[in-house]
Amino acid sequence: MSEETLSNLLKEDRRFEPPAEIAEHANLKSEAYDRARQDREAFWAEQAERLDWSQKWDRVLDWDDPPFAKWYVGGKLNAAYNCVDRHVEAGRGDKVALHWVGEPVDDKRDITYAELQDEVCRAANALLSLGVGAGDRVAIYLPMIPEAVVAMLACARIGAPHTVVFGGFSADALASRLEDCQAKVVITSDGGYRRGNPSALKPAVDEARTKTDVVEKVLVVRRTGQDLGEGGWDDAVDVWWHDVVDGASADHTPEAFDAEHPLYVMYTSGTTGKPKGILHTTGGYLVGSAYTHWAVFDLKPETDVYWCSADIGWVTGHSYLVYGPLANGVTQVMYEGVPDSPERGRWWKIIQDYGVTIFYTAPTAIRSFMKQGAEIPDRHDMSSLRILGSVGEPINPEAYVWYRHVIGGDRTPVVDTWWQTETGMIMISPLPGVTHGKPGSAMTPIPGVAAEVVDEAGEPVPDGSGGYLVLTEPWPAMLRTIWGDDERFKDTYWARFAEQGYYFAGDGAKKDDDGDIWVLGRVDDVMNVSGHRLSTTEIESALVSHPKVAEAAVVGAKDEDTGQAVCAFVILREDAGDGGDDIVKELRGHVRKEIGPIATPRQIMIVPELPKTRSGKIMRRLLRDVAEHREVGDVTTLADSSVMDLISQGIDSGRSED
Ligand code: WT7
Repeated sequence: MSEETLSNLLKEDRRFEPPAEIAEHANLKSEAYDRARQDREAFWAEQAERLDWSQKWDRVLDWDDPPFAKWYVGGKLNAAYNCVDRHVEAGRGDKVALHWVGEPVDDKRDITYAELQDEVCRAANALLSLGVGAGDRVAIYLPMIPEAVVAMLACARIGAPHTVVFGGFSADALASRLEDCQAKVVITSDGGYRRGNPSALKPAVDEARTKTDVVEKVLVVRRTGQDLGEGGWDDAVDVWWHDVVDGASADHTPEAFDAEHPLYVMYTSGTTGKPKGILHTTGGYLVGSAYTHWAVFDLKPETDVYWCSADIGWVTGHSYLVYGPLANGVTQVMYEGVPDSPERGRWWKIIQDYGVTIFYTAPTAIRSFMKQGAEIPDRHDMSSLRILGSVGEPINPEAYVWYRHVIGGDRTPVVDTWWQTETGMIMISPLPGVTHGKPGSAMTPIPGVAAEVVDEAGEPVPDGSGGYLVLTEPWPAMLRTIWGDDERFKDTYWARFAEQGYYFAGDGAKKDDDGDIWVLGRVDDVMNVSGHRLSTTEIESALVSHPKVAEAAVVGAKDEDTGQAVCAFVILREDAGDGGDDIVKELRGHVRKEIGPIATPRQIMIVPELPKTRSGKIMRRLLRDVAEHREVGDVTTLADSSVMDLISQGIDSGRSED
């Protein structure tokens, strides 16, 4: 390996100052960074005051036995009480908690905090009646309907850790998660709406139950009313939500749980081996998600209408649709379906209809809108928006600028938020009223968080260089362990820089000349071209900055001369048609100009789609198989398994060049 840990390739000079209006009323000012650094525990104690504790903690942090942290030691609280009841008690019961929007047009429901309290209490009583007690695990396998939020909060209320399994996952994936956390009850529905059609869920639960016998009861929400099929109902196990929840009492006194009581387990697939059950606990997680939601989105709970487009099956849906926003008592939108049903402007119409002020989504969605062009969003009035957020992948500078311009009307700061299932909360992000925006950069750790970019030896790299992104201090919402596997927890996250005691996140990053952080993607994806370690992100961003390109994925393929060579897969914007005869030459020239000869792709393939996981991340592993002419590997986690066929066809039809 060469001296450099990761090359710094792209330069980006665009800057956006925080709007004066937002800066003036910002929740956090720049002094917060220093204040937090000087006394981190005092800062986190201050943040914990935003919650209601039945018993206050004795000690903010116990880090005596790293990497096993305890936060707010001795404190007791109830997460559901904090997300719901206390707002009602404060006289805000009539405030809308959820503007729920179903995929079928006109299928919508507004739910106030008082109504939410009622529902959560009934569901909590129903779960108790089904034999669920504190500490028992409950799996939730639901579409994006209000009952999903109610179910999570009901579990939290009675101290039963939930594990939400994304509704798009198969029976096998569900079964392995049920088995791993020994879930006693599953909450599901007959189905949900997707792309205009009812799509069944219950049969997958039935099938999962043939693979594991841990489940005692299945609680079923009737959403679509679709036929459950022959043998689709088992009286010994299945119960309807409307039978047991609607009939249950709406009185339930929340019990206070220890700050370290498990709140939920979220499975994350990782690159190899069986999924890891990431454990989050109650106090620290709720402090972390509530604080960051308030700080990073500069939340004004009285006036903002907030919308996070993530599914509750992902950690983003946990921290920034359920726990953070509800702990902060905001009004938010929750949408069931896909962005383009029944028409392509559906999201923009929702923003217009509800006057959404803060919108949080993923780069993969932004790039797909970029591909379609500005015409559809331009037909909607989105002047209510004041802050935009991005999460899940590096946002290419061009996608950032498009998002800010077309969706945000050039008014809105864009916060590029870096975090992980494991971190539980946003860690690195601009603050919209403090930090200026640099397209493509997550900027700095937020107040209270400590991160570094280090080299192989764990030494901080100088400004202008790349390396490994590490977290150098514990934080309240950090994962506590991998469910049932403390050794794997230590090996996976704490072994690489054990000497320094750093958490290694698996991502590469660079510090620019100002010391601001640019996350460059997973280090597993780094290519080695003639001894230079190149990240995929910067080359992809260079391709996306070409006016004909909407999306790009880059991988390294074996090369006799250079060790590895850059291979690119590119999706063109719709208005670029087929790109013209010289498109491949044009794009190679463009990368050479933007970055330099070292990054010029050896090969560029124009493709109609890219292989993505269900949460929208590009699966470069499969593209490496294609680039190296191998049989394509395991495609079971692909959102759409026909994509690989489309890509192979594209290549066979000669739309590529060596
Ligand atoms: C990985 C974590 C964070 C919740 C959703 C995904 C990538 C996430 C960014 C960002 C660059 C990002 C990283 C990270 N990632 N946000 N703003 N810039 N990369 O959670 O599935 O646990 O994925 O997503 O690679 O490690 P996750």
